[in-house]
Amino acid sequence: MYNLLIRNARIARPDGTLFEGDVACEDGHIARLDSKISAPARETIDAAGKLLLPGVIDPQVHFRDPGSEYKEDLATGSRAAVRGGVTSFLEMPNTAPPTTTQEALDEKLTHAARKSVANYGFFIGATPENLEALNSVNPVCGIKIFMGSSTGTLLVNRAEDLERIFANGTRLIAVHAEDEARINARRAQFSGRTDPAVHSEIRDNETARLASALALSLSKRYQRRLHILHLSTKEEVAMLRADKPAWVTAEAIPNHLFLNKTDYARLGTLVQMNPPIRTEQDNDALWAGLRDGIIDFIATDHAPHTLEEKQRGYPNTPSGMPGVETSLPLLLTAMKAGRCTLAEIQKWMCYGPAEAYRIPNKGKILEGWDADLTLVDIEHARAVRNEETFTKVRWSPWHGRELYGWPQYTIVNGDVAFDNGKIRETTRGRPLTYLA
Ligand code: DOR
Repeated sequence: MYNLLIRNARIARPDGTLFEGDVACEDGHIARLDSKISAPARETIDAAGKLLLPGVIDPQVHFRDPGSEYKEDLATGSRAAVRGGVTSFLEMPNTAPPTTTQEALDEKLTHAARKSVANYGFFIGATPENLEALNSVNPVCGIKIFMGSSTGTLLVNRAEDLERIFANGTRLIAVHAEDEARINARRAQFSGRTDPAVHSEIRDNETARLASALALSLSKRYQRRLHILHLSTKEEVAMLRADKPAWVTAEAIPNHLFLNKTDYARLGTLVQMNPPIRTEQDNDALWAGLRDGIIDFIATDHAPHTLEEKQRGYPNTPSGMPGVETSLPLLLTAMKAGRCTLAEIQKWMCYGPAEAYRIPNKGKILEGWDADLTLVDIEHARAVRNEETFTKVRWSPWHGRELYGWPQYTIVNGDVAFDNGKIRETTRGRPLTYLA
């Protein structure tokens, strides 16, 4: 007897073509794919012709657990994830305490095992002092370096400290690439201004380009796997287009694809983030970079802060916005508008992140692969509404935007996690594993 049978779905193949049929899940895997499966199952879902996609892997989220659980925790963050079709996430180390030791990582793993309805993985955070831990702590998807300061205390901005980390070890290094010295100099230069748009002037394109260029040069010097998080500028896209070694990857996030400086007038500090939102030319360059493979995949950088915190008035406002539950509908809506294809969405959001982080068996609907799936409705649009969000902070920069592609069901390891607006509270995700 199968654990789960999904019938009458339009099933996405990795190449973006569709076939109509059934999917049987057993032991956490896709056991069978066929045009018709007549076998008993403990649970059967009639997909009624809806689109079945591989579960999304969101390779950059901030779930604030432990330390700032009033903003989010692994229970609410993972629930927001599955609401948005995200079945696995990689979570960032700027928690309190920061994830810089085996002990801190173990605490997160324990919390996640208890609370997360999605599969989970964690980064180890770099400091100038924890080189030994960076290379020994397990299991981690990679090393995160904040080259410029953002939320939390993590920062490695001295050239010799960066060099030591790149020179020692083989793990993937993911960088938040903003140049700390330039941020500080420009913050002083613009100190008279308190309008939110000044955030994009202080942390200008050159601030990002400088740090990305330094990370790229270190990666080349030591042939070290490098991932540039949330690429945001046309200059960085051009830099990688001219010179991108095979061991380097880059990501874009919906905020930098769909928002730009014109949105400060409407949304103010709600759209304040690091690196900041830019111009329409930067939006276009990021789309072009995704389409030609210079940018490898999409993350959300889900970074929840409460509305009260976000309304304190610049510069007393924290940077970041929630996004884990809206990325797939945003991209599927863009697909309907002709901006990308179903093949690209699967590459950018499903198997692309899995390949880069060497997570086996995820991101494609194939027999024997993990049964991480999401069944979405691309026929009907529904507006994002703050009050309907699953994130603990209960707001979204996309409030009011009509989106297609909302998940009806999300399935994690063959178990239903999200069912027509409700969480199956007994479902639990598993720790992600990484190939050497
Ligand atoms: O805007 C941001 N918020 N950028 C980051 O790098 C961190 C994040 C957060 O954790 O709030």
